[in-house]
Amino acid sequence: MNRLSSTLLSYTERYPIDGFDYRLLDSGNGRKLEQFGEHRFIRPAPQAIWPATLPKGEWNEAVSEYTYSKGKDYGGEWHNRPGLPKDAWRLTCQDLIFEIKPTGFGHMGLFPEQAAHWLWIRDFLKSLPDDSPKNVLNIFGYTGASTLAAAAGGASVAHVDSSKASVNWARKNLELSGLGDRTVRWYVDDVLKFLKREHNRERFYEGIILDPPTFGRGAKGEVWKIEKDLPQLLQRCRNVLSREPRFILFTTHSPGFSALTLKNMMLNYLVEPNRGQFDAGEMYLHNEEQGYHIPSGFYSLWWRD
Ligand SMILES: C[S@@+](CC[C@H](N)C(=O)[O-])C[C@H]1O[C@@H](n2cnc3c(N)ncnc32)[C@H](O)[C@@H]1O
Repeated sequence: MNRLSSTLLSYTERYPIDGFDYRLLDSGNGRKLEQFGEHRFIRPAPQAIWPATLPKGEWNEAVSEYTYSKGKDYGGEWHNRPGLPKDAWRLTCQDLIFEIKPTGFGHMGLFPEQAAHWLWIRDFLKSLPDDSPKNVLNIFGYTGASTLAAAAGGASVAHVDSSKASVNWARKNLELSGLGDRTVRWYVDDVLKFLKREHNRERFYEGIILDPPTFGRGAKGEVWKIEKDLPQLLQRCRNVLSREPRFILFTTHSPGFSALTLKNMMLNYLVEPNRGQFDAGEMYLHNEEQGYHIPSGFYSLWWRD
């Protein structure tokens, strides 16, 4: 794994992360036990094909468990236990503060495997000279973790997601983190349509963060399918990339879209091979105690100091 520089640590080197109140406590038998701030949850982890380590008593402290519907590996339901709070609560990752609550599809409002990237984005942007432009685009932005990180690093950010509820959640997270005075433009829009408009408006970005899902829908029901739409997405990202780009972070959670695939696509569509540096690899939920990290997608990061 490359070192980014003496002060900017790469993905693997950032773990364990100080000041992060998320922990993967244990995993096994297709499930994971996670601590989100004050509360414990059990969620499916089909990749955890090994026995659990912690005693049952530890797992029994979870306040809710999400299980998939029979025979499926998506869509299911929560089984709440005593102790589940009625209201959302907070989770901190250093200076970034997030509101957490269980949602449909077994999500919690945060993808903790991205935590190393949030810190990298923040620290990289801070490390750039004060007079260098820092316009960052975060597409498929969800509840805004990377947007907060970029804002904390001093960037002007454009955040795009098709879900109004997610954008509102992201705005709340920005306020909670004390970053409400930063320049963030919020768009509830279909990513492909947004990129076309942004190109017509001649807006350009020094940093682009993209985390496309396998399947999704735009704000007006437009269908997004990664295997069909990715080339067009990257081409449109290229159209809004500054002539002096600083970084691109491309992540996926889709089977087959490995680190090499992402890197090859970035080289084809977005960056010149001999300019800048790459760090690409597997994302995971870090487990400190037993060392069984859970694979959670891939990343390819390109940057230029
Ligand atoms: C995997 S999540 C992204 C997670 C986020 N990058 C993070 O790290 O917190 C996918 C997001 O893409 C959004 N989405 C799906 N299809 C979309 C589309 N066509 N246009 C805009 N947003 C879309 C969903 O609403 C969802 O918030």
